[in-house]
Amino acid sequence: MRTMTQKLDKSAKVISNMFSSLAPRYDLMNDIMTGFTHRYTRNFAVKLLKNKKINRVLDLASGTGDFSFLLNFNLNSNPLTIGCDFSKGMLSIAHYRQKILRLKYKNRNITFINSDISHLPFSNEAFEVCAIVYGLRNVQNPLWVLKEIYRVTKPTGHLIIVESLLPQNPKINRLLSFYFKKIVPKLASIFSSNIQAYDYYFTSVEQFITPSKTLNLLKRSKWNRVTNYNLLLGSVMVYHVFKSKRR
Ligand SMILES: C[S@@+](CC[C@H](N)C(=O)[O-])C[C@H]1O[C@@H](n2cnc3c(N)ncnc32)[C@H](O)[C@@H]1O
Repeated sequence: MRTMTQKLDKSAKVISNMFSSLAPRYDLMNDIMTGFTHRYTRNFAVKLLKNKKINRVLDLASGTGDFSFLLNFNLNSNPLTIGCDFSKGMLSIAHYRQKILRLKYKNRNITFINSDISHLPFSNEAFEVCAIVYGLRNVQNPLWVLKEIYRVTKPTGHLIIVESLLPQNPKINRLLSFYFKKIVPKLASIFSSNIQAYDYYFTSVEQFITPSKTLNLLKRSKWNRVTNYNLLLGSVMVYHVFKSKRR
């Protein structure tokens, strides 16, 4: 078990290999480990965008495509939805899910690309909406990534960030810490092929910047208005961020 002070290696090779090894059981583990509550947080984020006219969406660190599919299926405009990740394993599950879902939802406009989100292969101001769901804490330089997302977002565009965090309430914090340090490794040993990765998971949450530091990073990367929503007893934060100052 890592200690909170031990620095995590977030180099592209380490992170992409780790997620590739998790990929086949990633969605199952997400449901089991969170008791399906991660679905509530994703649905909450999608509702913030409903009824908006959106043509192009970028889902960063898209993993197995959970949020890309949810977003595309719930927006009436069927926007071009691009999921972007650098883990081959996660992308191959996304492609597999796309094949299966295509039987049910024909003509949906979704595509996945292999790219490091620190260097996005898109022109300036290409997307109305960008989203990064449970991804920001895994990148080496979140400030750089936020600047890069700012670059590819339209002047009237939005950014949605969903991220896990340590709850402020000490009792809930202790309970969650016990759950992740004692119970989750047992669940991972049954359901996942990479137990160490779930050790990484909680340490990455423990070490990730607080909401006030995240707000500071957003300011430094020139984002303007931010509304944040604290969910699941303070263990998840959804940030709805706008590029423009004006409403
Ligand atoms: C915890 S998963 C989240 C996946 C997905 N967004 C979800 O909600 O299930 C984090 C993902 O971030 C990806 N990732 C981390 N750093 C990245 C980077 N610099 N470029 C591209 N993908 C990255 C990993 O490969 C992994 O698929």
